[in-house]
Amino acid sequence: MSTQRVDIAPSILSADFGRLAEEVRSVERGGAAVIHVDVMDGHFVPNITIGAPVVKSLRKATSLPLDAHLMIEEPDRYVEDFAAAGANMISVHPEAVPHLHRTVTAIRGLGVSPGVAINPATSLSALDEILPYVDFVLVMSVNPGFGGQKFIPTSLDKIRRLRTAIVDRGLDVRIEVDGGIGAGNVGDVVRAGAEIIVAGSAVFGEPDPAAAVRRLREAALAPFAV
Ligand code: DX5
Ligand code: ZN
Repeated sequence: MSTQRVDIAPSILSADFGRLAEEVRSVERGGAAVIHVDVMDGHFVPNITIGAPVVKSLRKATSLPLDAHLMIEEPDRYVEDFAAAGANMISVHPEAVPHLHRTVTAIRGLGVSPGVAINPATSLSALDEILPYVDFVLVMSVNPGFGGQKFIPTSLDKIRRLRTAIVDRGLDVRIEVDGGIGAGNVGDVVRAGAEIIVAGSAVFGEPDPAAAVRRLREAALAPFAV
């Protein structure tokens, strides 16, 4: 656990889409390590957001890694577009694909870091066979679809169990956690084993997103302070 590296990944879902480049630059100044992009299709989740063209525009606005979280049906049809648009990480939900290994392998084949995202009610057992093939697991700590929801507390135990499984199997897989995270609970999430912290409303819902990232980072690193 001593090698645990913690990165803050602001989710642009809560940003002002009319000033996206500016919003991204401000969180970059605040120390964000990754930009999390929530892609929703109105089918897999009850909300519609953005697609590959927005990733392409973001690519011009920042050099930070772009993390495309695909909450869509048939993601196989779109991974190539997201890779071409400049995504560095792509996660898919096992609930949305019939052949998860094929999808994950295709993402890696495009030169993109593959991840699997699991819903709050999806068991960790869904990861058993795919874990050696992914770079990260995205643990949803809210039901996907909207920003600003409340963190589901049982997620902490799920993160802990996943961390144990990764360590026991000697794998190099990072845990990303997404939903309902703010300065008040980020320490618990990190202590449970998370390394990539997604935060939307706790960053872009604040008057100064750069300062919000700084506060979140400090709170996230507090568990390591002696
Ligand atoms: C929810 C999205 C999240 C969302 C998080 O479906 O996957 O990335 O933006 O927003 P907050 O941090 O406000 O819960
Ligand atoms: Zn997300």
